[in-house]
Amino acid sequence: MDKNKVYFFDTTLRDGEQVPGCQLNTVEKIQVAKALEELGVDVIEAGFPISSPGDFKSVEEISKAVTWPTICALTRAVQKDIDVAADALKYAKHKRIHTGIGTSDSHIKYKFNSTREEIIERAVAAVKYARKFVDDVEFYAEDAGRTENEYLAQVVQAVVKAGATVVNIPDTTGYCLPSEYGAKIKYLIDHVDMGDAILSTHCHNDLGMATANTMAGLLNGARQCEVTINGVGERAGNTALEEIAMIIRSHKDVDLVTDINTKKIYSTSRMVSGLMNMPVQANKAIVGRNAFAHSSGIHQDGVLKNVQTYEIIDPKDVGIDDNSIVLTARSGHAALKYRLEVLGIKPDEAKLDEIYQQFLKLADKKKQVTDDDILVLAGAERSGNAHVKLDFLQVTSGKGIRPTACIGLDIAGEKFEAAAQGNGPVDAAINALKSIIKRKMTIKEFTIQHITKGSDDTAKIHLQVEHGGKVYYGFGANTDIVTGSVEAYIDCINKFN
Ligand code: KIV
Ligand code: ZN
Repeated sequence: MDKNKVYFFDTTLRDGEQVPGCQLNTVEKIQVAKALEELGVDVIEAGFPISSPGDFKSVEEISKAVTWPTICALTRAVQKDIDVAADALKYAKHKRIHTGIGTSDSHIKYKFNSTREEIIERAVAAVKYARKFVDDVEFYAEDAGRTENEYLAQVVQAVVKAGATVVNIPDTTGYCLPSEYGAKIKYLIDHVDMGDAILSTHCHNDLGMATANTMAGLLNGARQCEVTINGVGERAGNTALEEIAMIIRSHKDVDLVTDINTKKIYSTSRMVSGLMNMPVQANKAIVGRNAFAHSSGIHQDGVLKNVQTYEIIDPKDVGIDDNSIVLTARSGHAALKYRLEVLGIKPDEAKLDEIYQQFLKLADKKKQVTDDDILVLAGAERSGNAHVKLDFLQVTSGKGIRPTACIGLDIAGEKFEAAAQGNGPVDAAINALKSIIKRKMTIKEFTIQHITKGSDDTAKIHLQVEHGGKVYYGFGANTDIVTGSVEAYIDCINKFN
């Protein structure tokens, strides 16, 4: 084992996927897992099998689909969780159970109504139990960021002795300062006999310090980092994989190595963003639209004279190809197939043809079809077997007239039509929809995001609708904002229980 190697543990499909509205189905998760394999991650956390039948199935299917990375399943320090995780992992070629319990005083007192001693007993029992099923057991000390170091060292020592191969030190609340988190890892390295076990970082970004904390952990001896693509994750997210990979690659002085194929970063980022309907902010480090765009005159002048003046990373190193083919209505199957492959999508012939037909329709409406458009098209089959479908929509609006919409719906094969007015075209269209689907539902959030530039853009619409005390998330993408909004609403309705 190379003592300078940093193991990349990707939790996009577990911690990352906990973001409301970003849930993926099993087919999409397999697609992401295969992209992570090509990216060179060492461990894929595929889910929390006891949490739902869907998570169980995803862990099982990813275990079958992926060859090289270790597949990891999350559990609480509970025997039933571990039994179910072991079962879900049965097809994995390399498998790991990730079990753990909260160790901070507030978790011990308020979550478990327990004592420090009892928590160590439960931690040890869980690790020993998991070792009956697999040789590779990772233990997480939840809220380790706010756990007193001396007690944390006792927990780590006890679980290593019980057979843990990796001990995860999560800054669950994203509270630690980099100096504090680095010192915590150093304290553990200095005070625990780790044997062959390694420490792992797992940092949340609540105060914008996840990447800095992860680097502080690695520089102080941790040898695994837990990360997600684009930094997706609950609240402010997790540490972004691409940032740690590129910091290590750019800073030869840190003397750390990884197996990440950085040229696959861009395509994986776009794929995850597209499948999760989770836009990447334009100025996001490494993968944002503006990450390599030098706009100030002084910078442009410098970069033209010598690229090293202002550019510390070659965009090609993260897989951004400036020779990208622009797709238009005249582009053929081959060009579309190539572009999909650059974006990490390898459809079979039937699916390619389906995307191509959609592409031709879009290319008729837009001068140039962008990567984002293609990602939307590639994910468009989601609504294929939906219960409610939009047949047609006609809207009249403008200055001096009351907006009116006529809508046609197909509900489980039966046709319905209605018309309604509203204070704007979207309102009129949704009123018409609601006059057919008479269920109590209220819009909680409505976001329209354009994804390229120009008036022929495809808009992405994210909606949250409350129904029966639950909030449902819907998504629509269309060059027509009103139609896209209705599609997003119908996407929510199709998810009602
Ligand atoms: O943030 C956290 O503490 C976690 C653990 C469950 C590993 O995600
Ligand atoms: Zn977490």
